[in-house]
This record gives sequence, structure tokens and C-alpha cells, in this order.
Amino acid sequence: MDENTIICRCSDVTLKEIRALIAQGYLSFDEIKRITRVGMGPCQGKTCGQLVLREIANATGQSMAELQFHQLRPPVVGVKLHLIAEEAERHEE
Ligand code: FES
Repeated sequence: MDENTIICRCSDVTLKEIRALIAQGYLSFDEIKRITRVGMGPCQGKTCGQLVLREIANATGQSMAELQFHQLRPPVVGVKLHLIAEEAERHEE
């Protein structure tokens, strides 16, 4: 795969960046997430998560099953959609 391939489309992170971090010793998804924001976009890592884990697995010789995906954290407080719509209308005026 070309190293300029975008691994995380939400955060615009390339394979080259992921491999560089792994080479520096960042060997968990959470560490790489905190540095690059992979997995923190609108898809919450559904697209990039497995790709990053595969790179870590290839570099460390671990199986994908041994690696931990990041902790999914829903919003702390739910926001009702009508409140968002009302706020958007207020800004349009
Ligand atoms: S592609 Fe990485 S968070 Fe969406």
C-alpha cells in the first residue's frame, strides 16, 4: 500500500504517519489516537480502526485479537435535536 494512503479520512491521517508513530514506539491504538486523532472523527473509527490495528499487529507480531480498540465514549449529556435546530435558526437571523 502506498504510504501516502489516507488511513483516517475523518482526521486526514496517512499510513506514513501511523507507521512513523509505531516506529517511535507508540504501540497502542489509544496512544496513536491521542497524537493523531484517528478514531475521533464522525465515524468513531469504524473506517480507520481496523487499519491502524492491522499496522500495529504487523509491526509487533501480535494478532489483531490481542490488540485493544479504543474505548468508545458517547457524549456525556444527550442534546435534544430541537435545541440544536432552534440554535441554528437563531444564528440564521
Ligand atoms: S476514518 Fe478515522 S475516525 Fe473516521
